[in-house]
Order: sequence, then C-alpha cells, then structure tokens
Amino acid sequence: MNCAGKSTANLGSSSPSEHLQLFLFPIVFLVKKMKNYLVAGASSGIGKAITQQLLDAGQNVFAITGKAEIWKEHPNFSSVAGGFLENDWQAVGLPETLHGLVYSPGTINLKPFRGLKPEDFRNDFEVNVIGAVKVIQSALKALKASGQASVVLFSTVAVSQGMPYHSSIAASKGAVEGLVRSLAAEFAPAIRVNAIAPSLTATPLAEKLLSTPERVEASAKRHPLQRIGQPQDIAALACFLLGTEASWISGQVFGVDGGLSTLRL
Ligand SMILES: NC(=O)c1ccc[n+]([C@@H]2O[C@H](COP(=O)([O-])OP(=O)(O)OC[C@H]3O[C@@H](n4cnc5c(N)ncnc54)[C@H](OP(=O)(O)O)[C@@H]3O)[C@@H](O)[C@H]2O)c1
Repeated sequence: MNCAGKSTANLGSSSPSEHLQLFLFPIVFLVKKMKNYLVAGASSGIGKAITQQLLDAGQNVFAITGKAEIWKEHPNFSSVAGGFLENDWQAVGLPETLHGLVYSPGTINLKPFRGLKPEDFRNDFEVNVIGAVKVIQSALKALKASGQASVVLFSTVAVSQGMPYHSSIAASKGAVEGLVRSLAAEFAPAIRVNAIAPSLTATPLAEKLLSTPERVEASAKRHPLQRIGQPQDIAALACFLLGTEASWISGQVFGVDGGLSTLRL
C-alpha cells in the first residue's frame, strides 16, 4: 500500500472510453484496496499522523481513543473506547478482518536512576508493553483472518544507545523489541510484526523537552541530520510497514532517528 494513495493514471488521455476508465480507475482501486486498520493512540503525535496518512490513502481506520474529534465526520473513521477489550469485538463495531494494527501509546519518564521508584518502572511497562499485549491479544483473531496482516509497535533510540536518565523507558522499550521478535516468529507467516525506534520527535509527548527554541536547536544539533523528527517522518515508515510492499519484512526494529543511532560525523 502506498500511504499517499497517489494514482498513476495518465491524465493526458482524451477518448471517451479512456475517460471512463480514468473515472472508474480510482473507484475500482479503492474498493479493491480498502483495508481495515486498528490504531491505538490515534488522537496525538505519531498515531495521529499515521491515522491521517491511512485515511488519505482511502483506508478504513478504527481508533482506540476517546478523543479523535477531528475525524468525527470522516466516512472511513470509527473510534472505540479503550474499554472495548472487555467487551465483545463486534458489539463495539470492530470488523471481523483487520489488515493491520498500530500501538503508539508511550511514555517519556526521564529521571536519574536513584530517583526512580519501582512504581515508575511498572507504570512504563504497563503503558508500553502490557497495553500492546492486551490490544494484540484482542485483535489476534481479526488479524489472522486477513492472512497477511501487519503489526507496528514503537521502541526508542534509547534502547540501542545508552542515554542517561532513560533507564525506565529503555527497559520497557527493550521489552517491546523482544516482544516484536518473539511474536514475529510465533505469528509467521500470517502476521508480520515490526517496530520503529524514533529519536526525539515533535509530539505532545516530547513537549517538555522541546519547550523553547533553544532546546529545539540543541536537540537538532545532536542529530547527524541536524533536525528533530516530525510525526510524518515516522508515520511514513509505519504506513510502508503496514502495506503489502513490506510483505517480506518481519521481526525488525527500524531506527528513524536522524542518523543518531548509527552515524558519527
Ligand atoms: N515523541 C518522541 O520523541 C518519541 C521518541 C521515541 C519513541 N517514541 C514512541 O513513539 C510512540 C508514539 O509517541 P508520541 O510522541 O506520538 O506520543 P503522544 O503524542 O503522547 O501520543 C500517544 C497517544 O497514546 C495514547 N495513550 C493511550 N493510553 C496512554 C497512556 N496510558 N499514556 C500515554 N499515552 C496513552 C494517547 O492517545 P489517545 O487519547 O488516542 O488514546 C496519546 O495521545 C510512543 O510509543 C513513544 O514511546 C516517541
């Protein structure tokens, strides 16, 4: 799937039958290609950018959120409250078949190790790992039903690169990376499972770290590509991984990090 949903039809044709073909092409294309995606965390940041790119590409998005007001009127968008996990899947309007799932809730709880309580580690683990486990378990039957589904989870650059004050989030995201490889093996070939490990990206989650122009500039300079990430940078890869063009990719963790994890200038 191309998330941009661009048609490659030749717009210079002129005969009536060619005009008809051109008129029908997008309709046939959409009917054939329209797929169902479940997004957890669609109201903000990276999850929001992924949802927008999927909707722009003509896909159906089912979001687990109470706050996705901006797409309220969109014909391809539905939202279900998080409590659906205890309810019946179809009773809350979720489809029998899912082609992809994105779990984007996450935390940034940066503190010196001595100031972190076991409760901080538990909370990060709950949001980043247990939350993903619950959603994947609930969606498993619908994902298997597609025969070729894709799951995208989120890690962080702070797993492959040791960074001060990141012990709690790095421990949880390290668990996410283990989960990705394990589930990719267990679910192959019917469901592919991959993760994206971003570096600092301009979202509400990272607001405090980017609260002044000086902070943004200092963060940009730490990256070989000299800028911080934008939600669309991450969403572009997520959408690629969700689509059939990535059908031979599973069990991977991809750094989208301005070169931070691999380059020394
Ligand atoms: N931004 C960065 O710099 C950065 C860097 C490295 C990794 N990441 C990872 O990338 C993923 C997406 O991050 P983001 O920056 O887009 O985050 P974000 O702006 O905070 O969006 C995450 C969304 O997840 C949902 N959510 C549901 N339960 C939550 C909970 N208990 N705690 C927090 N959020 C919850 C919320 O949306 P709903 O209201 O729709 O439920 C929330 O708006 C996360 O897994 C994050 O750890 C981000």
